[in-house]
Amino acid sequence: MNKGYFISFEGGEACGKSTQIKKLKEYISTLSQKDKFIFVREPGGTPLTEELRRLILNYEIDKPLPMTELLLFCAARVEDVEKCIKPALSQGKIVIADRFYDSTIAYQGMARKVMSSEDILDLTKKIIGDVKPDLTFYLQISPEEAFKRKSKMSEGLDRIEQEGIEFHKAVAKGYDYISSIEKERFYVLDANKSPEEIFDEIVTVLRTKIGSYLK
Ligand SMILES: Nc1ncnc2c1ncn2[C@@H]1O[C@H](COP(=O)(O)OP(=O)(O)OP(=O)(O)O)[C@@H](O)[C@H]1O
Ligand SMILES: [Mg+2]
Repeated sequence: MNKGYFISFEGGEACGKSTQIKKLKEYISTLSQKDKFIFVREPGGTPLTEELRRLILNYEIDKPLPMTELLLFCAARVEDVEKCIKPALSQGKIVIADRFYDSTIAYQGMARKVMSSEDILDLTKKIIGDVKPDLTFYLQISPEEAFKRKSKMSEGLDRIEQEGIEFHKAVAKGYDYISSIEKERFYVLDANKSPEEIFDEIVTVLRTKIGSYLK
């Protein structure tokens, strides 16, 4: 394999993406080929996109309009793709992303209804071309369970995380939609299982897809 391999983690608030990515990082750090993996989060990864992340998620002085929010996410994605993701893939690396364009479809498309999901997919194609994950782990959680988990995590919720249950229901619908139209790359995980069970399933899938890297 010399084209690299692109894996994304998706799902609504508190479904466990960061928990699983942390476990994966620990696991990968023990491998002899650990340098073949890079981890990115969206938006983020370059000085400019980390700054954009702060402006999009934690800027309370002058909240962006929904369309501005969508375009800022897209602008950050162009930077992340061109400066981090594409160079890594062209070096044959495995890229592991905490969220990618499915999040825009779920949040800004289905939940905020800024644009239709089809228009977001078209826009995405125009700005990043044919870069898309080879494999997407979708941690499926009910909005009610996500809400419960979030309310246990007392502080530090960002602007989007503070949205109510109806918003999270729409997000879940958005993920169901995109996972039904791009079925071939989606692997759906039951996010209600224990973190250990979910992680075992992830490693089993990775063995079938990129087994030669897991040494
Ligand atoms: N499988 C699980 N079962 C129960 N609780 C979990 C599970 N996975 C994660 N959690 C807990 O749920 C909370 C959210 O987890 P985490 O931060 O990994 O979610 P996330 O998908 O990254 O959320 P966000 O979209 O906000 O970044 C944390 O308190 C974490 O400990
Ligand atoms: Mg997270």
